[in-house]
Amino acid sequence: MDSRTTRLAAPDSGSAGFGTRGAVLVTGGAGYIGSHTAKALRRAGYRVVIFDNLSAGHREAALGAPLIEGDIRDLDAVRRALRESEASVVMHFAARLLVGESMTDPAGYYDNNVRGTLATLEAMAREKCLHFVFSSTCAVYGEPDEVPLRETQSTAPINPYGQTKLAIEHALPHFEHAYGIRSIRLRYFNAAGADPDGELGEDHSPEVHVIPRAFEAANGGAPFQIFGEDYPTPDGTCLRDYVHVTDLADGHVRALQRLEAGGASATYNMGTEQPSSVREVLAAVERAVGRPVPRRSAPRRPGDPAVLYASANKIRSELGWVPQRAALDTIVGDAWRWHSTHPHGFQRRG
Ligand SMILES: NC(=O)c1ccc[n+]([C@@H]2O[C@H](COP(=O)([O-])OP(=O)(O)OC[C@H]3O[C@@H](n4cnc5c(N)ncnc54)[C@H](O)[C@@H]3O)[C@@H](O)[C@H]2O)c1
Repeated sequence: MDSRTTRLAAPDSGSAGFGTRGAVLVTGGAGYIGSHTAKALRRAGYRVVIFDNLSAGHREAALGAPLIEGDIRDLDAVRRALRESEASVVMHFAARLLVGESMTDPAGYYDNNVRGTLATLEAMAREKCLHFVFSSTCAVYGEPDEVPLRETQSTAPINPYGQTKLAIEHALPHFEHAYGIRSIRLRYFNAAGADPDGELGEDHSPEVHVIPRAFEAANGGAPFQIFGEDYPTPDGTCLRDYVHVTDLADGHVRALQRLEAGGASATYNMGTEQPSSVREVLAAVERAVGRPVPRRSAPRRPGDPAVLYASANKIRSELGWVPQRAALDTIVGDAWRWHSTHPHGFQRRG
């Protein structure tokens, strides 16, 4: 066991104050899920250093944690960050993640998500930083053969975004074999919600996710578009698995603890197993906001399956992960608290 591993594994003996454990380099930690996870890690006693090029992230989202501005495609910059932070683990959120954009700019997606992640892994191998937690996605499955989706189901992404994530999943066993990098791959379903303390939330531009888009519509923006109302589902709209961002963050802490304890590399779904339809989401938004959500029908989008939700059995039984804020009204209520107090995101509070 090298000195980094020893530092990471330093026992906390229950007095989890900041800095009592080893450092975690959080790439993309100024973004939505990364910032919530960085907060959860600090709460759990880990020292966090954020590495982000701020292409989609926000300095304010670091909440005062050290932030190194840099690009994951820059091998030397990642190596320097690993040395300076003395990180023994990388949590890797940095990516581009718009499915539609990945169809029109696959070069950019392969460049950032594949080349950038391979550079990060190479930097880790060179610096002997041997633990990796990877943000993967349910998009690796493509059109599901059956639901709920289990990790053993075949992977056949139908867009470049999902392909870039699967490419890394496929590379990781080789990096483990050759360099000893153990990894946990977390396949998130639909990340949603916001920090219950109100310090962090979703601030994407453009905003493509259902819940914040519905807030925009309720606030007088463009009407919410429902893509397809003739699916074979109870109300005709698509069913998706919305998972609270603080539950995702908690899953990352558990993944890290598995690596610390010497656990083997693994892949896990992260979802609630309770899908909600688009109409149910809009109803929850109306309850939270207290106003109607103007909407209009739009045609189905190619590649949108009717029903997509996770089996979370594996992560529940192996990591003890049970979502604590799974109820749709909780997810939407937390998201609305952030949105209503930060109508312009991190830049200007309302
Ligand atoms: N949001 C979701 O519903 C969802 C679902 C499944 C998987 N994921 C994955 O989770 C991760 C985080 O998603 P998010 O919603 O927080 O996205 P986000 O855009 O809010 O955060 C990504 C962060 O990475 C940074 N970044 C991007 N490219 C970089 C680069 N080349 N170098 C350094 N930093 C870079 C951005 O500035 C941003 O802060 C992504 O890997 C995404 O693929 C997200």
